[in-house]
Amino acid sequence: MRSGSSRRRHKAARPFAVALALVLMGALYAVLSPATQVAADTGMSAQVAEGKGLFQVTCSSCHGLNGEGSSQGPSLIGVGAASVDFQMSTNRMPMARPGQQAPRRPVTYTAEEIAAIAAFVQSLGPGPAIPPSSAYDASNLDAEAIARGGELFRSNCSACHQAAASGGALPNGKYAPSLHGVEPLHIYEAMRTGPQQMPVFSAGAIPDEDVASIIGYLKELEQQPSAGFSLGGLGPVTEGFFGWVVGIGGLCLVAVWIASRGARAK
Ligand code: HEC
Ligand code: HEC
Repeated sequence: MRSGSSRRRHKAARPFAVALALVLMGALYAVLSPATQVAADTGMSAQVAEGKGLFQVTCSSCHGLNGEGSSQGPSLIGVGAASVDFQMSTNRMPMARPGQQAPRRPVTYTAEEIAAIAAFVQSLGPGPAIPPSSAYDASNLDAEAIARGGELFRSNCSACHQAAASGGALPNGKYAPSLHGVEPLHIYEAMRTGPQQMPVFSAGAIPDEDVASIIGYLKELEQQPSAGFSLGGLGPVTEGFFGWVVGIGGLCLVAVWIASRGARAK
């Protein structure tokens, strides 16, 4: 009788003891492990996991479920976060149709989404990372450094992008885009990752301070009304407006023309 009741007490006590032990272990772990380290790790892997999810929805049709590539797109293992940031921040990726040059478009992804996908691709294999702004800061360059940037630009870049950096055609219907109005970060990333026909300019070939000089030169070029095509030096707002009116107006004319031809063909 006594032994029976004590066994019953025992049975009830066992799960309670296990739960208590778990709680104690959890508390002990929380106290002993460096809290910031845990937070950083879970934060990072959560970002990679989010990036993986986004990647598998948006990018895997061409780049494979794990970035291994397919007949529609190259492997992204080892291309690095900078390449993803460049491709997505200029919205070249996700590419609309495979097989041609991906054009620059207005961006539709948030900075967080791009950072998550970049972190996922970086986790596949290390490549050029997204640089801190100090790596390419061109705001305090003297005239000498900017002149050096001009020299570097003429010897390394103008063959494709033209002397005034206004862009130019390349063989097989490809083109080197205009560099006016491109963000300094994207100039840096383009040089380090070499999109499409553009060669990679590694830190060994052109160190960070020379990249900053080239950026300084390109930004100075934008200030000069004579560089590229200008509308009486009225600045980028009018140019943008002009481009908008001519571009959209032209598209409307083409649409009307096609419609009228279609009607005639019937
Ligand atoms: C329709 C197919 C397609 C889709 C979808 C697509 N890509 Fe691409 N991607 C390509 C092709 C083709 C290239 C190589 C040619 C080029 O650079 O234009 C490429 C190139 C890239 C590169 C440059 C690789 C290098 O060598 O530096 C990156 C980075 C990239 N894609 C990331 C992405 C990400 C991230 C997504 C999803 C948000 C995505 N792509 C969606 C087809 C695609
Ligand atoms: C062999 C030709 C070639 C050379 C040389 C070259 N580029 Fe490019 N560059 C390209 C092409 C082609 C693209 C477009 C890639 C794409 O659309 O994916 C490009 C794209 C860029 C972009 C992205 C512009 C945008 O619209 O987002 C930048 C910035 C850039 N180049 C800077 C440079 C700089 C700076 C140099 C010299 C250090 C240089 N390039 C040398 C061919 C070249």
